[in-house]
Amino acid sequence: MILILLGPPGAGKGTQARRLTEGRGLPQLSTGDMLRAEIAGGGELGRQAAAVIEAGRLVPDEIVIGIISRRIDAQDCVGGFILDGFPRTAAQAEALDALLAGKGMALDAVVLLQVDEEALVARISGRFTCRNCGEGYHDRFKQPVETGRCDKCGSTDFERRPDDSADTVRERLRVYRGQTEPILPYYETKGLLRRVDGMEQIGEVAAQIDMALGGEAGGRPSGG
Ligand code: AP5
Repeated sequence: MILILLGPPGAGKGTQARRLTEGRGLPQLSTGDMLRAEIAGGGELGRQAAAVIEAGRLVPDEIVIGIISRRIDAQDCVGGFILDGFPRTAAQAEALDALLAGKGMALDAVVLLQVDEEALVARISGRFTCRNCGEGYHDRFKQPVETGRCDKCGSTDFERRPDDSADTVRERLRVYRGQTEPILPYYETKGLLRRVDGMEQIGEVAAQIDMALGGEAGGRPSGG
């Protein structure tokens, strides 16, 4: 299965992608995570991306398309994958179709997580992540079971993203409305778009996604 999770910053794409990854055995391809890894690596691409991300704008299409193109060539993507944060522009959506067509693959569905702007700001401002394994948490909505210790890997080292400041979040939302929302009709016309109410609790959103995909909750799909 090849699935896109679409939605504004803080809608829950990463949270749901990680759950789907565990349930369906498919890799999560998050361009945000890949770009943050480039930044952590300290290379030229990372240096270029850091300034753009911290300003809340989009990294140039050719850079992210190149990153995704190399990633989907990897062996673990042969049986499908979950795209989180890509595509974000019309050029990226068209490039993805061309990349998939070149491999004899096609998209199965595009899940749009719909969340009110006020809730997005609350979610982003309370978010923190395990620095070791990347598991996401929230001050109010998703605390680790044991305070200060990651449920997944036991690490006590957490971090907050520099682009989660109030000003940058406002810019990220503006960019989403201006550049990513306009690609929704592209997928609607193809009959691939599935709208999910992302305002519900995490487990309920997960159940709605499973229903939209026509499968059992968290279960493996029957085929590619
Ligand atoms: P990216 O990392 O993709 O950030 P984003 O799209 O802004 O999305 P977020 O990661 O902020 O939110 P999310 O939807 O994953 O929500 P999450 O699950 O964490 O991109 C960062 C930057 O990289 C971009 O701004 C851009 O500069 C660049 N970039 C990335 N991809 C690019 C591309 N394709 N092209 C160009 N540039 C690109 O949830 C948020 C919080 O809410 C968490 O704390 C979570 O626990 C909580 N939560 C989740 N679901 C719920 C729920 N149902 N109820 C209550 N709380 C919830």
